[in-house]
Amino acid sequence: MSGCPIHQSSDRARAFDPFGPEFQADPPGSLAWAREGEPVFYSDVLNYWVVTRYEDVKAVFRDNITFSASVALEKMVPPTPEAIEILKTYAFDLRKTLVNEDEPVHMERRRALLDAFSPAALQGHEAMLRQLVRARVDAIVDQGEADLVKALLWEVPLTVALHFLGVPESDMEKLREFSVAHTLNVWGKPSDDQQEALAHGVGRFWAYCGVVLDRMKANPDGHGWMHDMIRANREIPEIVTDNYLHSMLMAIIVAAHETTALAGANMMRRMLGDRAAWTAVCRNPDLIPNAVEECLRHSGSQVAWRRMATRDTTVGGVPIPKGARLLIVSASGNHDPRQFENPDALDLWRDNAAAHLTFGYGAHQCMGKNLGRMELRVMLEELTRRLPHLELQDQNFHALPNVSFYGVDRVLVRWDPARNPERRNPALRDRNRRFPIGAPDVRVLTRALRVARLDPLAQGVLGLTLEDPEGAPLPAWSPGAHIDLHLPGDLTRKYSLCGENGAWSLAVLREDGGRGGSRWIHDTLREGDIVHTRGPRNHFRLDDSAPAHLLIAGGIGITPILAMADHLRARPHALHYAGRTRSGMALVDRVMRDHPGAHLWIGDEGTRMDLPALIAAAPRGAQVCVCGPARLIQGVEAACVPRPDLILTFEHFDPVDTALDPDREHAFTVELLDSDLTLTVPATRSLLDVLHETGIDVPCDCGEGLCGTCEIEVEAGGIDHRDRVLTRAERAEGRRMMACCSRAAGDRLKVRL
Ligand code: HEM
Ligand code: FES
Repeated sequence: MSGCPIHQSSDRARAFDPFGPEFQADPPGSLAWAREGEPVFYSDVLNYWVVTRYEDVKAVFRDNITFSASVALEKMVPPTPEAIEILKTYAFDLRKTLVNEDEPVHMERRRALLDAFSPAALQGHEAMLRQLVRARVDAIVDQGEADLVKALLWEVPLTVALHFLGVPESDMEKLREFSVAHTLNVWGKPSDDQQEALAHGVGRFWAYCGVVLDRMKANPDGHGWMHDMIRANREIPEIVTDNYLHSMLMAIIVAAHETTALAGANMMRRMLGDRAAWTAVCRNPDLIPNAVEECLRHSGSQVAWRRMATRDTTVGGVPIPKGARLLIVSASGNHDPRQFENPDALDLWRDNAAAHLTFGYGAHQCMGKNLGRMELRVMLEELTRRLPHLELQDQNFHALPNVSFYGVDRVLVRWDPARNPERRNPALRDRNRRFPIGAPDVRVLTRALRVARLDPLAQGVLGLTLEDPEGAPLPAWSPGAHIDLHLPGDLTRKYSLCGENGAWSLAVLREDGGRGGSRWIHDTLREGDIVHTRGPRNHFRLDDSAPAHLLIAGGIGITPILAMADHLRARPHALHYAGRTRSGMALVDRVMRDHPGAHLWIGDEGTRMDLPALIAAAPRGAQVCVCGPARLIQGVEAACVPRPDLILTFEHFDPVDTALDPDREHAFTVELLDSDLTLTVPATRSLLDVLHETGIDVPCDCGEGLCGTCEIEVEAGGIDHRDRVLTRAERAEGRRMMACCSRAAGDRLKVRL
């Protein structure tokens, strides 16, 4: 099935070739143009629709009925007749292996095979993993130079995979060769001659798996996931069939090791390539779980995956015909600035790093993600602890040419063994950290910054400019972004960034009636002090595609609005800033200096903003951005009702009270349609807490209904909305809710998770 007759892709899009040097060298970078201008396009060269933005990639992953996984293991390049003949001689017959199955059979099998991935079961592999990594590091620790891929990054994941699967002692080199042949055969673009050689490699791999399987079947009490499958084959042969066992063994050896080995190589390349990041982890191993997540986001080993449309549909507004094949480029989604602030930078403190798409998403999301995470964490922990002075050698990086798996094949490093910390203190060798299984808890991750300057900005408003204590540059941020400031007494407050030229400057309004956070900043904080922050994050984004922007600020809400106005200087926009008194309005001089056309509305000078008139006069299709007190936001929302052409974006700073009073709340049931699970949310717990306890990774940022990170899609059931994110219209529609604070209005919800 080819492109859509209505949709016209650009020349660049039609010529897009993932086997070309740009994509092969830098998958997300090579699609930056598409993310910005043509996020879903048809490539004539590939005969695929290519999906590049985060939300669109996720939406395709999420809808496993409209988008079939059946093509996930299809060869990118059709086999030659000679290759087909060669494969026949090995009786090659790879068919279904979870990852390329559709419902209902996929979920039935997935459910039957889930136990081995529970946190308790995975914990059982940690000691062996630790010992293995330690032995591999022991082998090189005094050498002074090594290729980390050869030394441990591929062998550890392969050994762990075999241990997890229960596959007996195997010839590691042979398995590595087989995996490469399988990857190139399915996801590569081999020439006709190469196809023949690969067909032999793949055929031998298939035959080898048959022999191993027979040996395993002879041991009915064996441990490991393949043995679970062999037992399931005996108990439910109609669900776990003979061919299934054989196909699964071959696919899973690759799925369970190559993904992790390549991710490890990318991780070490990126971590050592960024000295500040490496040093930060050496000094503070608590960063490791999030560093792993950030490396999976920034340079994951799975860069693109495939689906097929089962009906005429749309993705990102682009019509996609039934039967069309889609290349969903998760690596591109992982660099989408709409989702990740400053996405091309490696930021170990990024607190939504775990929302990456490298493990896929939805019903097929990687079952082994927590095992992969555990391996990467242990490898990074051992290397940073034992070889903190490791350095990259000069080298060119190469990766196997294919569309899905990305990972460098060598990471050459050097170090001075005389500086190994365990030479001074041998006990360090065994003094490792342990990390809980699962996604990192980012709420404990803070960035220590120094207060570079304190400036009075208005009556009761103090300006803070922050800097890295070591002088390292701080990550860039986009207009509308904020950071969290951690304050004494377990308080956290959000402040928008409003500095010029990317400076991390905030404006803090003194609130005498509050819980004391702003008073502490005004009364106690001094220049040179260290503060702890999280972010930056942006839930209040400018839509650059809007033809015009109407910016409305009330009081201290000027901070993000001013950053937006700075960004829009050369584009059509209007800025309105309201306050009670001129002397209490922060940054008013800068507003008037840099934006002389801005409108000031000052209560005690007798001028008032006429919201209905402002909104009525807004250009067609404009984005209306408003930040200020709840009253102002409600006023703008009401004024926008007759103008559905406008895009309304707002930001509140007053958190929702998330305390749950059991006398006023009720328990409810939630059905997770994609995971085929039913959970009970007690009156005393949030829906998000219950999801996390079940191992469902719903990202959470603010935890108090302000940011929209924990949004989930609701299929059925009334919602008691308690967030400050959704508009009136979105609430009335009843399709989305914030899991951190909103609840079921009745006793049942059905959600797409
Ligand atoms: C960094 C390491 C890993 C990465 C990046 C990764 C990536 C992926 C991706 C992208 C998918 C397809 C998701 C989708 O279609 O939505 C997947 C599926 C899968 N992965 Fe992983 N994987 C990793 C490690 C592992 C490990 C260690 C195991 C096993 C021990 C494993 C087992 C599986 C299985 C069984 C599936 C199929 C799930 C299904 O279709 O229901 N993976 N993985
Ligand atoms: S985590 Fe921010 S709204 Fe729920």
